[in-house]
Amino acid sequence: MRVTCEAAPAEARPAAALRGRLDGSAASRYISLVRTLIISDLHANLHAVDAVLADARRRGYDRAVCLGDLVGYGAHPNEVIERVRDLAPWRMVRGNHDKAACGVTDGDAFNEVAREAILWTRQALSTANRDYLLGLPAGPLEAGGLLLSHGSPLDEEDYIMGDSDAVAVMAGLSDPLMLFGHTHFAGVFLALPGGPLRPVGLGRGGIMRVPAGARALFNPGSIGQPRDRDPRACYAFHDEADNTFEVVRIAYDVEGAREAIVAAGLPAPLERRLALGI
Ligand SMILES: [Fe+2]
Repeated sequence: MRVTCEAAPAEARPAAALRGRLDGSAASRYISLVRTLIISDLHANLHAVDAVLADARRRGYDRAVCLGDLVGYGAHPNEVIERVRDLAPWRMVRGNHDKAACGVTDGDAFNEVAREAILWTRQALSTANRDYLLGLPAGPLEAGGLLLSHGSPLDEEDYIMGDSDAVAVMAGLSDPLMLFGHTHFAGVFLALPGGPLRPVGLGRGGIMRVPAGARALFNPGSIGQPRDRDPRACYAFHDEADNTFEVVRIAYDVEGAREAIVAAGLPAPLERRLALGI
């Protein structure tokens, strides 16, 4: 866990939630308590990304991290990459769709619909944005007490779906907190000191505090293609002030995203699933 009363790193500012509550002297003592915006699995869904970034700005944060899959499935890969480039995340890792879209992998492991979308994405990407994807680092990545990984830190393309996956990952972790995506399901695998690992679903949104001494694997859900039968975009914050994770669900223009997929000639299942959140 982060030390909370040390000198702030250059990029850190007082957590947004604290700035309004503390006077100058108190604020200076807590200056390294950082509120982190966590985004993942954007999947070229510009309508969802714009809604999330506007909502996040309203709520306030100090820095952003991104867990990959900027592209794939959706109709606006260049625009979404440019939103992320403008956001300039403090730390980020690549996803399996990012790898396939820029040619790091061939995409042969994808199902037919996903592969068709990746082939479309490859021809749609600008050279600059393809190069940006090529430059994204592989996970896992250390980020100031948080470990970032698109999938499992054992293999960035493996899923952490159930308890046995989480137990295997936790056994090899030195960091108490890890952030991951890839499954498109928001939630936490929590291990209290000396206790068994416990999954906590956060798909409806909400705040969960990580107790002192506990370890947690946290998934912020997916912005661009939620799969928990809730079509609302999903993202999260981590607040160092009280070591909480907050999952946020917000409605966005799903019909606009669906129409863009149709207009782009992408496979029909990709627009249908957005309406259902599957
Ligand atoms: Fe994904």
